[in-house]
Amino acid sequence: MIKKIRQVLIIDFGSQYTQLIARKCRELAYSCEIVTVEDAKERFFHGRLPRAVILSGGPQSIYEDNENYNFLFQNEKMPILGICYGMQLLGHYFKGTVQKGKTFEYGRALIFFLQDKFRFANLPQTLDVWMSHADHVATISDELEVVLKSSSGIVAGIRHKSRPILGLQFHPEVHHSQYGREIIEYFLKEMAHLQKDWSADTIYLEIVEQINAIKGKKVLCAFSGGVDSLVAAKLVAQVDPSNLFCFFVDHGLLRPQDYSHIKILMEQSGLNINIIDAKKLFFDKLALVGDPETKRKIIGSTFIDVFQEKVVQFEKEHGIKFDLLLQGTLYSDVIESKSPHGKGGKSVTIKSHHNVGGLPDRMNIKLLEPLREIFKDEVRALGKRLELPKRWIYRHPFPGPGIGIRVMGPISEERVAIVQQSDQIVLEELEKFQLYDNVWQAFTVFLPVKTVGVKGDGRAYEEVVCLRIVNSVDGMTANWPDLPYNFLQTVSSRITNEVSGVTRVVYDITSKPPGTIEWE
Ligand code: XMP
Repeated sequence: MIKKIRQVLIIDFGSQYTQLIARKCRELAYSCEIVTVEDAKERFFHGRLPRAVILSGGPQSIYEDNENYNFLFQNEKMPILGICYGMQLLGHYFKGTVQKGKTFEYGRALIFFLQDKFRFANLPQTLDVWMSHADHVATISDELEVVLKSSSGIVAGIRHKSRPILGLQFHPEVHHSQYGREIIEYFLKEMAHLQKDWSADTIYLEIVEQINAIKGKKVLCAFSGGVDSLVAAKLVAQVDPSNLFCFFVDHGLLRPQDYSHIKILMEQSGLNINIIDAKKLFFDKLALVGDPETKRKIIGSTFIDVFQEKVVQFEKEHGIKFDLLLQGTLYSDVIESKSPHGKGGKSVTIKSHHNVGGLPDRMNIKLLEPLREIFKDEVRALGKRLELPKRWIYRHPFPGPGIGIRVMGPISEERVAIVQQSDQIVLEELEKFQLYDNVWQAFTVFLPVKTVGVKGDGRAYEEVVCLRIVNSVDGMTANWPDLPYNFLQTVSSRITNEVSGVTRVVYDITSKPPGTIEWE
């Protein structure tokens, strides 16, 4: 959608953290774009050069990668930051050697500057950073110098002696890397000499310009009530309210808070929202399905079937034809849905999050995706700019397949009801304890095991509910927070007392990685 040139080109070699590099650049107010190697090659070939390049990490080993990346290094003035695999590419190109690691180094590591004169950005001599690699640069040529090493003796940072090139074996883009932000800012500001050019205002103006261009067209919106589709719809409604029609599909896998939220939006958002009740159909289709990816596919395809049928019916009844389908697709969805077998993006997909990707093809309708270039925090900034209530824009993320991926194994109305009631208790207590805004997500999961308990004077053999509460900055990594015992105690005793059929509540104390936030 946005045609303007971005200053920083981030080349994705398949790291799970590539998006975080982009987020860091934008938080620092520098425009950037993530591209595949093929896209980058094409741009370089046609002389469409960025002002700076960042090479991401990646799972491969440079000696197993047969591609030729020389084009990246031929312009002597181009500022380049190579991260992890990106640094190994640098080392290799400048005639150094990369050694295959026997073991994988993962997690925190201490690194230090070899000499005082190498220290940049006023950083301390020793840094606590995040590593995730097996291979490493073993030797370098005269053109480069080693500036940082890790306490295990591995080369952690290299620099070109005369060109604006920096290589880092660790991941400054990861939240856990101390001074990661300062390091990236140092590269953008001091090495690449870029000017800040990215803010909520610039994003807003570019998006409004795009929406103005389609004024008068009939716009159909797949509306979930989440912050993405809400902000997308409000942006369009701001320009052309009478031509926007929102449809909300109720698959029955929502929490009580989602139903009340939709009701409030119908009354207060000023949007034209139509509800499609398809609960029975979804439950029928999911009754015997246990596999998480199959569930996601069924939920996605049933959503598309129902949505299309109702919209066609609506068009007939109202004598209109929709021109565009508005979706709250974010930049993270775009990058994820390109991998791993798409147009060359290599990041490994852990779960297929793109819930209703097939909708535009099936409906043969053009897409309108005003948020396609921005991240969640930028959407929230836009929501604020649109003066939407805080409660609407700071809701916890909720997955498209809803409770469908929070009931382990086959779904039934009873199991979904257990999660709904337990979730409601969690929400009430989070609010009472004033913890809602302190956590990223908080929910319950239905576990498909029975457990023995005592209820009253009798033996019970009932269900287990797991409490999953995490803190995260971006959903890519997460930790379980240190919550007051009092809160946990209240939630546990309320669930076992109030939710019929549940005798046990467990608390998930797994961080991401290795666990994911959702259980499926
Ligand atoms: P994971 O479980 O991958 O979750 O650590 C990271 C974030 O993504 C959300 N999530 C989904 N969102 N459709 C969605 O729209 C999905 O299928 C899906 N699976 C996970 C999850 O809630 C968390 O915020």
